[in-house]
Amino acid sequence: MSEFCFSKENEKKFNELKKRYPDIKAMMLPSLWLVQEQEGWISLDAMKFLAKKIGVSKADVYSVATFYTMFKLELKGKYHISLCKTASCKLRGSKKIREVIIEKLGIKHGETTKDGKFSFEEVECLGACGNAPVISLNDEYFENLTPKKIEELLDRLE
Ligand code: FES
Repeated sequence: MSEFCFSKENEKKFNELKKRYPDIKAMMLPSLWLVQEQEGWISLDAMKFLAKKIGVSKADVYSVATFYTMFKLELKGKYHISLCKTASCKLRGSKKIREVIIEKLGIKHGETTKDGKFSFEEVECLGACGNAPVISLNDEYFENLTPKKIEELLDRLE
């Protein structure tokens, strides 16, 4: 038995979304999003809940949740920054963006600031290579970044 359950609002959203899919197993990704929206991350307990809810194995939920970098498997900062470290972004200056982030926030890949406000990770391609270099800040993308742009963005959030 899992401790996690959907909020009333998310239970309602789940039931609405379910109507769109002929096979409830297709609810895997929307359900993971609902959990992340509700908790800020996806715990093993929540995965257990989803497995039962959509009728798949816990391993199935785990494999999907761990495959996509947009799913957070631990509690992150209020502002979670994912910096793409793949080729296009690298060629277009992601190293300089990384330096600004590390310098301004004082945290490296996989770390969270002491006040819990920012967390930072370097990830593989975010799928916006045409506008490299790219970060995602929570669920929003910031593209064609320059050191100045990332500095201004972080200043606005601090
Ligand atoms: S290489 Fe950075 S978004 Fe694809």
